[in-house]
Amino acid sequence: MNTQFAFDGESLITPEQIAAQTETAKQRPAGAAIGEGEAELMLVLQRAQQRFENGAAPAGVLHDIFLQLNRLRRTLPADVWRDLVPLAQAHPVATFIHEDPFTRWSFEKPRGYSGDAGLLDFIYGHETAAPAIAETSANGRTLYDYTSSAPAAAAVRERRELLARHVDSIASSRETPIEVLTIAAGHLREAELSQALAKGRIERWVALDQDPHSVGTMTRDHAGTVIDPMNGSVKGLLTDAYPLGTFDFVYAAGLYDYLPEAVAVRLTRKCLSLLKPGGTFLFANFFDDIRDDGFMETFMNWPLILRSEAEMWGIVNRSVDRNQVDSRVEFGANRNILYGIIETR
Ligand SMILES: C[S@@+](CC[C@H](N)C(=O)[O-])C[C@H]1O[C@@H](n2cnc3c(N)ncnc32)[C@H](O)[C@@H]1O
Repeated sequence: MNTQFAFDGESLITPEQIAAQTETAKQRPAGAAIGEGEAELMLVLQRAQQRFENGAAPAGVLHDIFLQLNRLRRTLPADVWRDLVPLAQAHPVATFIHEDPFTRWSFEKPRGYSGDAGLLDFIYGHETAAPAIAETSANGRTLYDYTSSAPAAAAVRERRELLARHVDSIASSRETPIEVLTIAAGHLREAELSQALAKGRIERWVALDQDPHSVGTMTRDHAGTVIDPMNGSVKGLLTDAYPLGTFDFVYAAGLYDYLPEAVAVRLTRKCLSLLKPGGTFLFANFFDDIRDDGFMETFMNWPLILRSEAEMWGIVNRSVDRNQVDSRVEFGANRNILYGIIETR
């Protein structure tokens, strides 16, 4: 396995790299050709294009595309589906779909990699995304309303709230202000929701990200607070490049979905070593049965490593002796994202 990409803060998270990590499970049966799947895909996309051209309600057309791509991704052998992705992306219906500024941003990757913090701001409905939304076409706006309300996006919004609640509850369980480390912080939007931060219950909040642009945004937005934005990567963490000290709470959201298991385990072990006694580590990962997967991989060009509960437990079990810690794997309320939570004693 080539894990180099996941260690490298400069050249990470391209769809090709994710594909290389995920092409193990369902292999094409001998003799099976791409043809059958291709014919079905083309039918779905052709029909959608006609409906768009005939003025059908865009959200309804998109909804059907979501369902059909999800079904095809689930039922076709993994390598057949992978070969179909570029065909979907090249289909003329993409012109309609990319009127949605969120989907277009994801597809075009203005920061050069998938899942950047600017993209997440479309999900959060943050004011920084407002200009791009305001200048979109009426169709684009309707499509955006659909994609930004779809289950995966709703789960990311819930994740933001949940992270702030974890910070607040850990802060309220301590007598003195706590220390927090966020890995792959993006724009650290959850900090805007944290009561503990507003009430001075945090001593320092280190927010690490590999993208200097995002670190710059955090530095500007949180100037004069205890938030300490830091340019750094998973690679840097794993090679002990940063003298960070220890923390009450360490967490990573929107990162494990890009890490193969071996790297996820190494990172988990590293994060556990950064905890004070009684500290908490949390890692989030999209569940392996989400409705948005086919659409994300094609028209957003945003593949993720989706995980089951058993795979989350696999990371926990390979990282730590479960007798020495309290650990759990749980869903958020909308069940699209799983959370692995490990508390040291
Ligand atoms: C999907 S965003 C999540 C941002 C934020 N945690 C949130 O939930 O809104 C992924 C973030 O991970 C960062 N990232 C990806 N790979 C990384 C790596 N190897 N080291 C550090 N940060 C990384 C990206 O720069 C991006 O900001």
